[in-house]
Amino acid sequence: MPTLIEVKHPLVQHKLSIMRDKSTSCHVFRQLLKEISQLLAYEVTSDLALTAKEIETPLVRMQAPTLSTDGVVLISILRAGNGLLDGIMELIPTAGVGFVGLYRDEETLKPVKYYYKVPKNLQNKTVIVVDPMLATGNSSIAAIDLLKKSGAEDIRFLCLLAAPEGIKNMQTHHTDVTIVTGSIDEKLNESGYIVPGLGDAGDRIFATV
Ligand code: URA
Repeated sequence: MPTLIEVKHPLVQHKLSIMRDKSTSCHVFRQLLKEISQLLAYEVTSDLALTAKEIETPLVRMQAPTLSTDGVVLISILRAGNGLLDGIMELIPTAGVGFVGLYRDEETLKPVKYYYKVPKNLQNKTVIVVDPMLATGNSSIAAIDLLKKSGAEDIRFLCLLAAPEGIKNMQTHHTDVTIVTGSIDEKLNESGYIVPGLGDAGDRIFATV
């Protein structure tokens, strides 16, 4: 799998454009987020291993390709990551789900963990970390540091939008992590927002604007 995948599919691009529009309601934003999460999940899981399982169709016996979906773990980076979970859990209903909460220490500016609950035995799993926005990348990098300490080896990162700065940061710290994104945007602004972006993803998902 390449280390960076920008999903240029027209359905993703169209839905993203509606989400970027500031006049889009919270209700529509959530619905589109769910739909895009499934389209991005399709890409991020495109190399999952299949094994043959014998089944019987109405006509014959066959060796049918089967996914061991219990090998997938989703990790949401709080809080905006939760907006991506529902859609992906619908596609992969047997996936384990974990949560990582980090805040930025105002003095050191480093991410500090305030919540960490993930499934056991991550070393045997395909771990998909989800966060709508890869901005500076600092919290995602810190979350992946923690997951690697917990044994995760096969880690992918799924986001709606990525800034070039965040991609570079992630690729410097975690060369082995594939990033799947709906768009590589232009830049980060001085406040750390992705431009053109869609604003604060958490606020738009949870209507806290
Ligand atoms: N987080 C967001 O929600 N939006 C950005 O543009 C950057 C980080």
